[in-house]
Amino acid sequence: MTAVPHLQIKNLRAKIEDKEILKGLNLEIKGGEVHAIMGPNGTGKSTLASTLMGHPKYEVTDGEVLINDEDLLEMAVDERARAGLFLAMQYPSEISGVTNSDFLRSAINARRGEGNEISLMKFIREMDKKMNTLEMDESFSHRYLNEGFSGGEKKRNEILQMMLLEPAICILDEIDSGLDIDALKIVANGVNEMRSADRGFLIITHYQRLLNYVKPDFVHVMMQGRIVKSGGPELAERLEAEGYDWIKEELGIEDETVNANV
Ligand SMILES: Nc1ncnc2c1ncn2[C@@H]1O[C@H](COP(=O)(O)OP(=O)(O)OP(=O)(O)O)[C@@H](O)[C@H]1O
Ligand SMILES: [Mg+2]
Repeated sequence: MTAVPHLQIKNLRAKIEDKEILKGLNLEIKGGEVHAIMGPNGTGKSTLASTLMGHPKYEVTDGEVLINDEDLLEMAVDERARAGLFLAMQYPSEISGVTNSDFLRSAINARRGEGNEISLMKFIREMDKKMNTLEMDESFSHRYLNEGFSGGEKKRNEILQMMLLEPAICILDEIDSGLDIDALKIVANGVNEMRSADRGFLIITHYQRLLNYVKPDFVHVMMQGRIVKSGGPELAERLEAEGYDWIKEELGIEDETVNANV
């Protein structure tokens, strides 16, 4: 039996080109849990996602991140993926010349490791099945990765990757942005289908709407590069109704962005 996945972020600080963006962030995610992070623009949400995934632009200056008790920050990007971490990006990249199916198969094989590659037949079967669930046209497997995909198609494609990779900790950065109402339900169904005791989620979103479909266990608010408030689903509902001013007042925060001196 595999252990329940566990991501621990302790007092994480990170900077980009001498500008500190994450300023002492604490968060813990276990298998079976869905955490949502909300927060105004420019408060460091995507930076958190990129830093966890190991984007080379972000330099960690303090703190600790453990995945299943191992030091995540010491791992290369591919090792992080093998450890079970996955990021659906806010702005997925387009890669010309690499077909979606080639990309997906390489990603799966990188995660499975040498000598344990997925057979072509099995890969095609799995991909067809998941594309069906996401109501994606078969032609998307032969197209170049994200090239010319509409905003919503890119988001669906990120979820397709997640479904095929079967990660242990899934970070979804604004997976709902640009989705029409039907697509939102389809993507939410895909996420819900993946929910299980051996998988944890971190869902970054601006809108309560997604959380109506994917019910979070915990909701966190990010300001000034750290989590300033946590609660249950009712917190997201209050934010939708009242915005962020009451939190800023409660905490005495004037500038909620990462530019504030904290
Ligand atoms: N490469 C960079 N160079 C300079 N500043 C950067 C860079 N990357 C991020 N930042 C700054 O860090 C801050 C946080 O950005 P981030 O993308 O993490 O915010 P966010 O909370 O995800 O916002 P949004 O809700 O708009 O997606 C912003 O002010 C942004 O301009
Ligand atoms: Mg962002």
